[in-house]
Amino acid sequence: MNLRIPGPTTVPAEIAQAGAADMINHRGPEFAAMIERTTAGVKKVYMTENDVMTLTSSGTGAMEAAVVNLMAPGDEVLVISIGEFGDRLINLVRIYGGKGTELKFDQGLAADMNQIEAALKANPGIKLVLVTHNETSTGVMQPIIPDLAKLVHSVDGLLVVDAISSLSSVPVKVDEWDLDVVLSGSQKGWMTAPGLAFVSMNERAWARADANKSQARFYFDLRRHQASALTGQTPWTPAVSVWFQLDKALDMMFAEGMDNVYERHHRLASMTRNGVKAMGLSLLATEGIESDTVTAIKLPEGVDGQKLLKVAQDQFNTVFAGGQGSLRGKIIRFGHLGWVHEEDITAGLDALRGSLAEVGYKA
Ligand SMILES: Cc1ncc(COP(=O)(O)O)c(C=O)c1O
Repeated sequence: MNLRIPGPTTVPAEIAQAGAADMINHRGPEFAAMIERTTAGVKKVYMTENDVMTLTSSGTGAMEAAVVNLMAPGDEVLVISIGEFGDRLINLVRIYGGKGTELKFDQGLAADMNQIEAALKANPGIKLVLVTHNETSTGVMQPIIPDLAKLVHSVDGLLVVDAISSLSSVPVKVDEWDLDVVLSGSQKGWMTAPGLAFVSMNERAWARADANKSQARFYFDLRRHQASALTGQTPWTPAVSVWFQLDKALDMMFAEGMDNVYERHHRLASMTRNGVKAMGLSLLATEGIESDTVTAIKLPEGVDGQKLLKVAQDQFNTVFAGGQGSLRGKIIRFGHLGWVHEEDITAGLDALRGSLAEVGYKA
C-alpha cells in the first residue's frame, strides 16, 4: 500500500524491526542510555540547545502541554489559525479558560503580519501567541515564523509554534529563529510510529511556566519531564517500543544527512505539485507558500471526494487523505513526508490520474 497521507507515515522495515525488540525496564540503564541518545538526536533535528522533552502522546498532547504549562485561566492569548490545526489550538485555549483573541485566515492563505501586529497593539495584555507552522489541513507552510518571533518578543510575549508536520522534514531553526516553544510528533517526518511527541522550551518559556499562576497540570507537567530526563527516565511509563523506533530513525536521518533530508522533501514536493498541475488540477495553497510535506488538491466540480479515495485505495493501492472540516469532499491531501522517494510520488500521481479517470474526470 502506498501510504500517501500526511501522517502516520511509512515506517521503514529497519525501524519497524527496531520496535519489535525485547521489552526493557524503563527505570533501568538501557532506557537511560537511550533517552540520553534520542534527546541529543532530537535536539540536533530541532537545531537547538534548549531542553526538548519527549512525551508519550500524539501531537495533540504536545499542544495541550504547551497550553497547560504556559497559560492560566483568564490570561490573554492570541491564537493565529489558518486551518483545522490552528482551530484546535483555539479550542485548547478556550477549554483551559484562556481569554483568546482569535485571528483566522481563509483556507489556503498564510497569516498576515500586519493584522497580527494590529491585534497585539490593540490587546497589550497578550503575552502568549500560538501559531501553526505547517497547516496540514490546507497544505500551507507559513513563511512568517522568524518575523513573528521577533514581533512577539518585542511585546514581551512568548511564541508557541506547532511544527508537528514540518519539523524533521523542512528546516525549523529553533535557536536561530529564537522560538520559545516548538512542538512535533513522531508519526510525521520522523518515520516512526505514532505515540511520541516533542516539546522544546527555552529559558523564557521555563520562566513563564514557573511563574504561571495556574499549576493545574500533571501528566504534561514539563518540569517533571525535564527533571526525570536528568535521571535518565520519564515521569510516567513511556512508549518504550516507539522509543526504540525513534532511536533507529534518528540514526537513519543522520546517516542520510539532514540537509539531504530537507532537499529530498523539497524536491518531491515540487514533483508532486507539478504532477498535479499537469493533470489540470489546482492547489488549495496560494503559490509560494505551499507545504513541502503535504499537498492539498482541489477536486474538480462534480468529482466525489469520498468515491475518489475509495477507488484509489481499492484499485490503485494508494491511500490519500480527504479534506477535514468544511473541506471534506472538496479536496484530497497527498502526503510526501518521512520515508518517501521518487517512485512513491510517481506511483501516487499515477494512482491519482487513474482514480480520477475511474470517477469520470479526464486528466
Ligand atoms: C499541524 C498539526 N498539528 C497537530 C496535529 C495533531 O497531532 P496528533 O494527530 O498526533 O494528535 C497534527 C497531526 O495530524 C498536525 O498535522
